[in-house]
Amino acid sequence: MTSPSPARQATSLFRARFGSRPALLASAPGRLNLLGEHTDYNGGPVLPCAIERRTAVAAGPAPGWAAVSALDGTLHALDPEAPGREHWTDYLTGVVRVLRQERLAPPGARLAVASTVPPGAGLASSAALCVAAAGALLALAGRRVAPRAVADLAYRAEHDEVGVRCGRMDQIIAALARPGSALLFETGGGRLDHVPLPGPLWVFETGVAHRLRAGEYNRRRSECETARLMLAERGFPVRHLADLRPDQLPRLEQALPPPWIRRVRHVILETARTRAAARALALRKLPELGRLLFEGHASLRDDYQSSCAEADLLVEAAARHGALGARLTGAGWGGAVIALLPEARALSIAAAMAGEFQARYGRAVAVWCSRAARGLEVRRVRDSAR
Ligand code: GLA
Repeated sequence: MTSPSPARQATSLFRARFGSRPALLASAPGRLNLLGEHTDYNGGPVLPCAIERRTAVAAGPAPGWAAVSALDGTLHALDPEAPGREHWTDYLTGVVRVLRQERLAPPGARLAVASTVPPGAGLASSAALCVAAAGALLALAGRRVAPRAVADLAYRAEHDEVGVRCGRMDQIIAALARPGSALLFETGGGRLDHVPLPGPLWVFETGVAHRLRAGEYNRRRSECETARLMLAERGFPVRHLADLRPDQLPRLEQALPPPWIRRVRHVILETARTRAAARALALRKLPELGRLLFEGHASLRDDYQSSCAEADLLVEAAARHGALGARLTGAGWGGAVIALLPEARALSIAAAMAGEFQARYGRAVAVWCSRAARGLEVRRVRDSAR
């Protein structure tokens, strides 16, 4: 499926609403996480890649702050000093506040936003917005900032200012992704390794919108922290849960009751799986990678308890119809399932999965595929740009 270019959309929206051309255009991608779910706030590795769907921010200088989105076309005056309004513009004011704290903000800006990253689908649409906005505003202020630092600013905007208790995976991949590669990010030590990801990944949107800020995600974070403190008291002091090893599990299982042991087991085994998946990918062992995806899904379903019936059905159908692997991606409790499909039979397997979903839920699942795409891009807009 071809999507309209968000860059063009943002540029023409800017012209239409502000009556001039933008000075700059920044865009950042959504992401799929191959493996390493709920490990980024536990000091473990993640293995995401960027998708071809992006969020674009067209920006021009102004004395104050105003923003418009292609979603509703309404012009919003922004007040970076005011508290959040539970509105998408909170992400923009969050970015402005963080840039101001670092003395990196322009005096004001007009911003037009357009996106092909579906919100609430577990594809990190808010990180794409924050990273693109940070890139645009930094360029408008004439600041050169390394992509890794842009990711950090965007993380602070979302985590500290908007109050989403996210980890750092989404901003890192949105800022640093390379086309044709996944990124192994060791959140504990900060190491980054790009790993070639040649083929496309298939995406099945369950249509169940997760609420990232709503209870379950934050509850899991608290459970992980409680489990870590309980383990420290019981003779297993670690900085992060991901520092524990699989061979310690039998003793940990004696030391911790449910639900904490389930969360800990997920983090420990997911950490091992993610590193194994990066190795399998580097060696092009796709069946091995696929097996790890299926295992990862079972762990989300049974131990982390962050799946949903719609995702479980899609993953079970994927296994039955011959997918190499499939799993729920992103925060969970809805969102999207990714599948690694053998090239020759990809279309028929995807159709069979969609057919089972339709039969069970009486509605269609949105299916598309994406190759690994590039991260943040920022460019000046010339007169010819439309
Ligand atoms: C969301 C968060 C990420 C990560 C995932 C779960 O996408 O933004 O930081 O915690 O959930 O892996």
